[in-house]
This record gives sequence, structure tokens and C-alpha cells, in this order.
Amino acid sequence: MAEAAWNRHHIISLEDFTPHDYETVLKTTLSFREVLSRRNKKVPTLQGRVVTNLFFEPSTRTRSSFELAAKRLSADTLNFSPSTSSLTKGETILDTAKTYLAMGTDLMVVRHSKAGVPATIAQEMDRLKAGVGVLNAGDGQHEHPSQALLDLFTLCTSLESDTPTIDLLKGKKIAIVGDILHSRVARSNVWSLTACGAEVHLAAPPTLLPKQLLAAFQNSPIENGAGAPERRLFLHWQLEPALAGADFIMALRLQRERMTQHLLPSLREYHQRYGITRDRIARCQPTVKLLHPGPTNRGVEITSDLMDDPELSLVAKQVTNGVATRMALLYLMGQSQKSS
Ligand code: NCD
Repeated sequence: MAEAAWNRHHIISLEDFTPHDYETVLKTTLSFREVLSRRNKKVPTLQGRVVTNLFFEPSTRTRSSFELAAKRLSADTLNFSPSTSSLTKGETILDTAKTYLAMGTDLMVVRHSKAGVPATIAQEMDRLKAGVGVLNAGDGQHEHPSQALLDLFTLCTSLESDTPTIDLLKGKKIAIVGDILHSRVARSNVWSLTACGAEVHLAAPPTLLPKQLLAAFQNSPIENGAGAPERRLFLHWQLEPALAGADFIMALRLQRERMTQHLLPSLREYHQRYGITRDRIARCQPTVKLLHPGPTNRGVEITSDLMDDPELSLVAKQVTNGVATRMALLYLMGQSQKSS
């Protein structure tokens, strides 16, 4: 594996990722995709190191994907789940993290329903000079960097399977549809896709897409030095303008567990106005492809037949690419530990 220039000790947010960082992730993921196509899918990269999955919130694909990624890199893995842990006896989150640190954890993958928990753990690890890298696997409504990075790899390889580069996304129209308000996946994707030159169109009912969101993103410049282009981001309260001529649609789950108020009349009405259906995708480019981070409410955000249409749906590819992407992230973070 070629040594990549990478100096991020933690991966908490994509807000300040540079185009160079995205290229490094794509290139590294491509190498691991090759590793995963071999008969023996294991490499000794993280042999003797400990990767701990601290998932304080339920997860199927992200957690399993990180576990498999760590195992393919030959790391020893520890899995924490809150219901069977000492959290139930009153232990704090930081004390839980420090317990795993004391066992020799090198990398922590953290998911929590509250925004900011992975960052807090990372700060504590730095304060203790522990040398532990922390990767945010989804924190509340804030960010989900590894999901957006696997989405980036999936988008770019769907355009050029063997030579994915961020330039392929320049000028491409990507519609992100659904519960933007509660979506950490949408937030991370807005950072990455706009930094890579795509035109991102967010579409949702006004209650799930407040206008202030736009300012939050647009006030943050793309970190690529002088002359950085503006983020090309648009908000729509109707689906049709977002879909018109789109190259990709990313549908998001309605996060009912995060809805504390009545933000929608009914799921049926939501589907009628914002659901992705075959009729509606006729407005997109003929080559349009669909993504969804999962889990899906079938028949609500997207019809079942579209989800399962291999010509259109990249959903299974996203899951497959998740393992190679997470191997790449753990590898890069491991490299930055070696060189620090
Ligand atoms: C997402 C998450 O947990 O943020 N899922 C995932 O990680 N693949 C999206 C969601 O929960 O809807």
C-alpha cells in the first residue's frame, strides 16, 4: 500500500476536509476494494492493534461494516453495546471510553444519539495524550463522515469504476431528498459533495428543511486554499425542481425516532408529495442512479421496485463499498498514529 499523505488523527466531521483528503480516501478505498476481491481478503496492516466499536445507539450496517473492516486489517476488535454494559450501572460515557483505553485500544469508532459525543471522547483522549484516534460513526443530527465517504466512492465508481476521482462529480446534479433536518448523513454529504464540485439540491417539506440550514453551509468555505469556489447548494420545498435533470438521487429515511413534534401530516401524504417513484424519476437524467444509506422505510421514501432495480439502485453497492471505505479510514488513521 502506497504511503498516503494524511495527518488527521481523528475523523469527526467533513466540514474542513479538502479536495486532496477526498482524493486520498478514494485512492485508498480503491486499493482495499482490490484486496477484498482476492481469495484471501485479509492484510496485516493493523496486526497487534485494537479497534473498539463504541456504539451507544443501535446500528446494523455501520457497526458490522466497521467490525469487518477492522478484522480484514487484522486488528483485534472489541464491541461495546450499551444494554449489556456498565452504563446500566451508572458509568459515564467518558469512563467507558477510558476503560477501553486502559485495555490498549488504538482506534475508537463511536456512535451516539447525541451530537458531539465522539468529539468529546477525542478531546479527552488528546488531553490524556493517549494517542488514540477517534472516528465518528454517527452523532445525533450532526455528522456521519464514513457514510458520506462511502457514498462518494459509490458515486465516483458508478461513473468510472477503476479510476474514481472527485473531478467526475464536477457539475453533476445530486438531489438529496427526505428528512434533511434530522439527517447526519445529509450534513456530511453536503460537505463532501459540494467540496467535490457537485451541485447539491436538498428537497423536503419545510418542517424538515429549515431555511437557516443553507446559511450554515454557505458560511463555511471549501478548504482548498486561495480562490476556493462557493458551495453549490440549493433548497427546495417541492420535489420536482430538485429532480429535474438530476444525475443522482439520494433518498433519506424519515427518522421518526428523532421527531419530537408532529412534523408531518402522515407517512402516506409524505409519500404522495416526496416519495421517489418511477414516474418521478422520468424527470431525471436517463442514466440516473439511486442511493439510500439505509435503513429504509420501503414504500415511504422510495418505492420497493426502485430499491430493488439493479439498473437504478446503488444501495447494495453502498453497503459493499462501506467495508473497503472503512478499511481505508482505519488504515489512514493508523498511519497518522505511526508517524506522530
Ligand atoms: C444512517 C444513520 O444511522 O445515520 N444509517 C446508516 O448509518 N447507514 C441513516 C439513518 O439512520 O436513517
